[in-house]
Amino acid sequence: MEIASEGRKKILYSAVQPTNNLTIGNYIGAVNNFAALQNDYDCIYAIANMHAITVRQEPAALRRNTLALLAFYIACGIDPEKCTLYLQSHVSAHAELAWVLNTFTYVGEMERMTQFKDKSAKHADNINMGLMDYPVLMAADILLYQTDVVPVGVDQRQHLEITRDIAARFNNAYSPTFTLPEGLYVKVGAKINDLLDPLKKMSKSSENPNGVVFVNDDRDAIIKKFKRAVTDSGAEIKYDPAAKPGVSNLLSIYSVFTGKSVEECENEFSGCGYGQFKLAVGEAVADKLIPIQTEQARLLADKQYLDDVLKTGAERAAARANKTLAKVYKKIGFYRF
Ligand code: TRP
Repeated sequence: MEIASEGRKKILYSAVQPTNNLTIGNYIGAVNNFAALQNDYDCIYAIANMHAITVRQEPAALRRNTLALLAFYIACGIDPEKCTLYLQSHVSAHAELAWVLNTFTYVGEMERMTQFKDKSAKHADNINMGLMDYPVLMAADILLYQTDVVPVGVDQRQHLEITRDIAARFNNAYSPTFTLPEGLYVKVGAKINDLLDPLKKMSKSSENPNGVVFVNDDRDAIIKKFKRAVTDSGAEIKYDPAAKPGVSNLLSIYSVFTGKSVEECENEFSGCGYGQFKLAVGEAVADKLIPIQTEQARLLADKQYLDDVLKTGAERAAARANKTLAKVYKKIGFYRF
């Protein structure tokens, strides 16, 4: 249990965008840990649909992906009774605090953010203000809940640092208002790379989808992708990322999906051929994902339940967020009746 100095559980915040498919890399790096964290922390998990619209989304797909992500969260073991699980756009305090925090954020620092530069290059026809303002909205997400910790992978580290900077700036200008959040660097077990290009991180936007395994791929697709995975010269199944990036990537995947150590996995496959090894990895991944998919589909058929979860989540989240927002409005001099 992670206890804050006042004796309460520490507050943990994270969010995922309801854009298309999550990869097994996203699953291992984020959602899979969320369920494990919910006993030790006071967990708040959001579906970041306001972040998602910083790149153009098809409305029907955005709606569908929102419920799919909600069902996926729950299918992965996130308990909506234990956590605050909600949709970002249901809590207006996010947009409101983001506006205030904009006045404590410099244009220059936003222009220098790595993700802004990457996404501007990728979406050169739509470099909108929201894309640039993305980190400020993320700061609002985190700061509204007086968050103690945010589980972060490398790609979100810069966003957490800027959140701390903005919070400290506000606290210094007025008086202590926001908790400064710390990064929680969960042992993700592994960094998962592309099956066809194992020196590159597995990413949903990869050119060749056969190197990427999505959490909603069916068993056949999963097995096929693993059968085609590139291995390395030599025949030994040994963890050596420099000399054997393909085999090492497969070993890490097998290790995180079975919960066995990499060493145990090496022993299990000693003397085994690449073909048999790749099939075993595919099967381990499918064995873990298929039951989650089945549960996700069951939940998606019960729209009333999902709506109830969102409603309760929004109420709980808003009650917490509005407390912080009221403090902020008071400090900056917004007149109240
Ligand atoms: N930017 C995060 C991502 O794409 C999603 C996100 C939005 C988030 N708000 C957040 C993550 C607050 C952690 C905390 O992965």
